[in-house]
Amino acid sequence: MLTNEQLLQKAMEAAKFAHVPYSKFHVGAAVECKDGTVFTGCNIENSSYGATCCAERTAMLKAVSEGHKDLARVAIYSPDSEGYAMPCGICRQFMTEFNYDMELIIAKANGEYKVWSLKQLLPEAFTPESLL
Ligand code: THU
Repeated sequence: MLTNEQLLQKAMEAAKFAHVPYSKFHVGAAVECKDGTVFTGCNIENSSYGATCCAERTAMLKAVSEGHKDLARVAIYSPDSEGYAMPCGICRQFMTEFNYDMELIIAKANGEYKVWSLKQLLPEAFTPESLL
């Protein structure tokens, strides 16, 4: 298991790959699985704006598509966010699918960070159990 700072560092590196010709808002994410495997992602925008993929979902899509559904923690960083780079609602819901106990390490551009639980950020969520 990486330290919060190490996972955040991976998110910072991933933010450099962001494809953001429209918003110019770079985001990087690093997802750590329960076995310690880490997947990173950046936001990837599209000229058809709605086709944009957030950094968190890029990282999670990489993890799940390589056989890792056991997501444990995610770090999120944007060099362009004065405040904490909070995940959007779609990304929160996407996380919920895999682990409603997920921990989120979210930083400001200056590197200051706070830790939240997904349950704090998306209370009373619609989860896979809701379908049972
Ligand atoms: N973005 C993310 O990558 N993650 C979020 O959770 C919030 C928004 C991206 C999408 C878009 O490329 C840019 O930030 C501005 O909305």
